[in-house]
Amino acid sequence: MKDDISDLNTAEYPSTVLVVDDEIYVCDLVTEMLEMDGYRVFSTTAPREALKIIDNEQIDAVITDLVMGDISGVEVLRKAKEKYPDAVLILMTGQPTLENAITVLREGVFDYLIKPFTLETLRMTFYRGISKQKLQRENIHLKELINLHHISEIIGSKLELDEILKATIDTTLREFNCDAGAILIKNPNNNNLEIRSQQGLPDNFFKREYLEFSKHFMKLPILNNYANANMDKLPFNIGGVRSHISQPIVIDNDDFGQIHLMRINNPRQFGKNNLATLSLICSKVETAIERALLLENLEETYLSTISALANAVEARDKYTHDHTERTFITGEAIAKELGWSEDRIKALRMGAMLHDIGKIGVPDAILNKPGPLTDEEFEIMKTHPLLGAKIVENIPFLKPALSYILYHHERYDGKGYPYGLKGEEIPIEGRLLSVIDTVDAITSDRPYRKGRSIEVAIEELKAHSGTQFDPKIVNICIKVLPKLPAHLELESVAL
Ligand SMILES: [Fe+2]
Repeated sequence: MKDDISDLNTAEYPSTVLVVDDEIYVCDLVTEMLEMDGYRVFSTTAPREALKIIDNEQIDAVITDLVMGDISGVEVLRKAKEKYPDAVLILMTGQPTLENAITVLREGVFDYLIKPFTLETLRMTFYRGISKQKLQRENIHLKELINLHHISEIIGSKLELDEILKATIDTTLREFNCDAGAILIKNPNNNNLEIRSQQGLPDNFFKREYLEFSKHFMKLPILNNYANANMDKLPFNIGGVRSHISQPIVIDNDDFGQIHLMRINNPRQFGKNNLATLSLICSKVETAIERALLLENLEETYLSTISALANAVEARDKYTHDHTERTFITGEAIAKELGWSEDRIKALRMGAMLHDIGKIGVPDAILNKPGPLTDEEFEIMKTHPLLGAKIVENIPFLKPALSYILYHHERYDGKGYPYGLKGEEIPIEGRLLSVIDTVDAITSDRPYRKGRSIEVAIEELKAHSGTQFDPKIVNICIKVLPKLPAHLELESVAL
């Protein structure tokens, strides 16, 4: 199967010409001339047969007689023009009337030859038409190249893998005038390809064996024009696809995936120039994917660092086991009500994990004391927001957690610590965390008491709304708290 694909990739598709004339010797003469010049020629004396050829083959040029029994040459030209808008159309006629001339010119005919004419005249006319077509096609290719810059900018502006893949499919489909496209990514566990992003893909286009044994095809660019392909041997269910190109996506010298583009309604076949353009786009996509993977990796490293730090606190303060995760769940629900962005919620997660990081500097005897703290002990405990801030302030990626660490023990009435800020002087991160931290403290077990219910927590919030807590945050918290499934589980843990 591999060899068949390779053959298709390297196949050249010379321009194809349809010659139609009810006089067989005209057909033969024109065919012979064009074949000698290297063209692929279909010729017929039957206009009905010509219409079928137009349906089934990719046609670049039509040379037809005008009057041929029940179907006129105009009808052949009209059908060719409809299916292949840039086809070179040449009409031959022995009946040159003004009316005929006007009719065919309206059909977009390139030239009009009056019989009898010499083969040399026909050749000159045909080559003028083909040269013009070539120029038009090159212009389209140039436009594609200019658009490359635009595509690169769009792809380059995306930071996440799925966004990059979607932007790639969206832009390439538009720029290549395609009807369908897909990006397949290799599953590293079994080396099979999986469709990760697609648009307009015909059902089951990729045969199972292609996806399962894709390693055979991974490195190969593909150029398939199905009118000329051996259907039985293809690894694709072509499902109306006329033309198809593909390029491999390689990351760190390893197969990563492939991009496939298909034309279904657009009759124009892909050419090698399209494949070259797609290759350039792929190199941009590869750079963007490499950056996204690096970023993902970096974020994972950040998160595991944060987890390690948070665990260090939890390991010492055994009564706050699971505390940070539960605090985050409540906080996230409130943040969504406040309309916070994804990034801000990410910072909240970091804050919930790290807000008590300063407890690392508080002695175990105070931290785990089974009973109320003395005034002196409480003064030491009160240093933990500033200690925590000192730990994270010089680590850039932990900076989003700083407001949570520093202000989570401030009170709305100004009687909190470390700064005694009042009302909205306290950054909202601190006001939010003080509410959710309290809810968790009430509902969690402590050495000197069992955890209490959500109802108790709600009563406590109401009792201290406007003094300890921001009333706005309290109201939202009371609204979201009973709806959180995590807290139903939490109750069973607490009781
Ligand atoms: Fe704290």
